[in-house]
Amino acid sequence: MMLSLMLVALWAQAQEVKIESGRFQKGDNLAWNAKDFDDSAWPVLTLDKDWNQQGVENANGIGWYRLHVVIPSSLKKGVVPDIMLDLGPIDDSDQTWINGHLVGKTGSFPGDKGGFAGEWTTPRRYIADAQWVNWDGDNVIAVRVYNGGDPGGFYKGNVKVAKPELRDFAHLSITKEEGGFKVVLSSEVKTSGTLQFTTADVLSGEVESTTVKKVSVAARKEKEFSCPLAPQKRLAVTYRDPRYEDVLGVEMCTPYILTPPAPATPRYNGPLVFGVRPGSPVIFRLAFSGEKPMKYAVEGLPEGVVLDPDKGVLSGSCAVEGDYPLVFTATNAKGSTSACFTLKVGPQIGLTPPMGWNSWNCWGLSVSQEKVMASAAALINRGLADYGYCYMNIDDAWEAEERAPDGRIVANEKFPDMKALGDWLHENGLKLGIYSSPGDYTCGGHLGSLDHEQQDAETWNEWGVDYLKYDWCGYSKVFNPSKDHSTAAYMRPYMKMQQYLREQPRDIFYSLCQYGMADVWEWGAFVDANSWRTTGDITDSWESMSGIGFSNQLELYPYAGPGHWNDPDMLVVGKVGWSNNLRDSRLTPDEQYTHISLWALQAANLLIGCPIDQIDDFTFNLLCNNEVNAVNQDILGQQAHRDVDEDGVQIWSRELADGSLAVGIFNLNDVAVPTYLKGALGKIGLEPETVRDLWRQQDIPTEATYIIPSHGVRLLKVSR
Ligand code: GLA
Repeated sequence: MMLSLMLVALWAQAQEVKIESGRFQKGDNLAWNAKDFDDSAWPVLTLDKDWNQQGVENANGIGWYRLHVVIPSSLKKGVVPDIMLDLGPIDDSDQTWINGHLVGKTGSFPGDKGGFAGEWTTPRRYIADAQWVNWDGDNVIAVRVYNGGDPGGFYKGNVKVAKPELRDFAHLSITKEEGGFKVVLSSEVKTSGTLQFTTADVLSGEVESTTVKKVSVAARKEKEFSCPLAPQKRLAVTYRDPRYEDVLGVEMCTPYILTPPAPATPRYNGPLVFGVRPGSPVIFRLAFSGEKPMKYAVEGLPEGVVLDPDKGVLSGSCAVEGDYPLVFTATNAKGSTSACFTLKVGPQIGLTPPMGWNSWNCWGLSVSQEKVMASAAALINRGLADYGYCYMNIDDAWEAEERAPDGRIVANEKFPDMKALGDWLHENGLKLGIYSSPGDYTCGGHLGSLDHEQQDAETWNEWGVDYLKYDWCGYSKVFNPSKDHSTAAYMRPYMKMQQYLREQPRDIFYSLCQYGMADVWEWGAFVDANSWRTTGDITDSWESMSGIGFSNQLELYPYAGPGHWNDPDMLVVGKVGWSNNLRDSRLTPDEQYTHISLWALQAANLLIGCPIDQIDDFTFNLLCNNEVNAVNQDILGQQAHRDVDEDGVQIWSRELADGSLAVGIFNLNDVAVPTYLKGALGKIGLEPETVRDLWRQQDIPTEATYIIPSHGVRLLKVSR
C-alpha cells in the first residue's frame, strides 16, 4: 500500500521540458551530430509539421535536425538520473544523438544492410545516459532522418525530454489462456529487472507462493510467461527495473463467486414498486427465488388486475389512479414468504431502473427470434426472472429491407412472428423491447422510422412492444447543426416519437440513445424519456467500462430519479461479441464486480448483454445477488455520487429508502490496496462498528483491514 501511494506521489512530480522547434539542414554529414558544430545559419523548423510543409526543397532523402535544449538538473532526481528523449513519430527512419553520443535508431537507411525500411508512425523514446547530459546548460539532440517519400521529418509535435519512468516505455499485461494466464512484459527500450509472481487464495487473500524471476527485454521486444493456475486463485505480477522508481503491476484471478446461494424457501428479490398508467396492460412477474413449483397469492389487487397463481404473473389493467398496497405471498414445499409491494397506477412508469436483456452486446446484427426466445426461456429456467429481469429487448437488425406497400414496417425473415413473440413474453410476465432510429436508417444500416413515426408506433403496439430504444444514428443526415444546434433541435425527433408512443393504449418505456449529445440528461425527462444513454457504446475493456462508470457518470447524479434514469449502456459480463463469434468478457472477474457494483450504485439500466442460455455460475452470481440488485432498484432512485478520490481509491455512495447508505470503495490502481475500513468510512463521516458486505451478504467489522484487489470493489450497506 505504502509503496503504491508513494509511487503515485512521485508520478505526480514527473517533470519534462518541451521542445517546439529545431535547426534543420537537408543533406548528410555525420559531423553534424557533434555538440559544438555551428548550426546558427540553419533555418528553424517547427516539430509539429513535416518538413515538406515548411518549404524544404527536394523533400525526399536525408536531412538533419539539431534541437537545442537546456536540461535542468531538477530532472536529475531519482535512482538513475537518465533522461528520456520523447521525440514522437518521425517520417521515416532516424538515428539520434545527444551531445555527440548515439542514443538510438529506428528504421533503417538506404545504405544500411537490408536497405531502407521506414517506421514513420513509431514513436521514438530513447534513454540517454546521465553522463552525456550537460545539466543546466545547452544540449544538442541531433536527429538524422531519411525520408523515403513525402512527407518527411518530425510531424506530430509534443517533443520533450523527461525524467524516465518505467511505465513510459514498458508494459505488463495479463490475459486468460487455457488453464491459466499469460503474462507479457514488453518494452520500447532495453530493460532488465525482476518479475515477481504472487499467488493468493482469491477469497481469503492469503498469499500461497511468491516466485521471483530475473528478466531482460531488448528494445521493442517482449517476453511471455505462462502461469497455470488452479481455480479460486489470484495471481499478482509486478515488474521492477532497479534503474527506475516506479513498479509495474497487473493482477488477475480465476472467476470467484461471492453471492451465497439462494435458500430453497421462497425469497422475494424484485422491485418494491411498479408504475402503470390507468388503463394500460399490467405486465408483472413476481420475482421469488426458491424451489419450484411455487404457488403465488396477492392481497389487495385493484379491480381489473388478476394473478396467475401458478406462474406468479399479474395481468389485466386498472382504470383508477392510486397507490395500491399489495402483499405478495409465495409458497413452496419448503415454506412460505410474503413481501409488501406498491402498485402505482398513475402517469409515471419506469419507477425503478429497467432490468432485462438486450441482444446487441452478444449477437449484434446476427440477432434472430430464435436467439431472443432462447434467452427469454433461460431467463425463466435459469432463474434470472426470479430476480426481476423482465425486459427482452431486440436491438438493431430485426427490420426488413423494405417497408410494406402501405408503408408499414415489417420484420425480416429472422423474425417470423413478432406478435407471437410478444404474446409469449407477456403470458410469462416478461416484456418486449424494440429498437429504431428517428433517422432514415439505423446505425446498423437498417430501416429507421423517419416520416413513419406514427405508423411504427402503431405497429409496435400491435406486436405488444413495451420498450423502445430510439437511436439517433441516421438522423444526423437530417440534422444540420450548422443551421440549428439549439437544444430544441436535438429534442425535436424525440418529441415527435414521444407523442405517438403516448397515443398507444399501452405503456412503452422510452429509452433515448443519442450518446449524451446536447446534455440530454437536462431535457430527457421533458421529452417523456424514461432513460437516456449518457455515452458512446460500451465495450468489454477496463478503459471503456471504467471510463463510462467513473468519469462520464460523475456529474449526472442529480438528473436520475424514479421514471427517468441515466443509462451508461448495457452490461458487458458473460459472453459478448457483437456477432455470432462470442467470447468471454475481457473484463477481469474483479472488474466485473466493479461493473455491476457501479451500475447498481448509479441506478443504471441493468440490461444483460450476454445470451442467458449460456450464462455460467460466475455470471449468474454477478447478476443475481438480491442485496446488490436491491441497491439498483431502491425506490428512492438516488444515483450515487463520488465522495472521495484519493490515490486511485474512489468512494461512491447513495442514500437508500430505508435511511441507510450504499457505499462502494473502488480500487482503480494496478495493484491491490489494503483498506482500513474504519478509516475509509471515516472520510465520509461514518463511524459504524459493522457494515453489510453486499456481495458476500455478511456483516463485517469495520475495525479491520480488507484488501481491495486491483480494479476491484467492496460494496457495502451502512445503517444509520
Ligand atoms: C448504436 C448504439 C448501440 C446499438 C447499435 C445498433 O451504436 O449505440 O447500442 O444499438 O447502434 O446498430
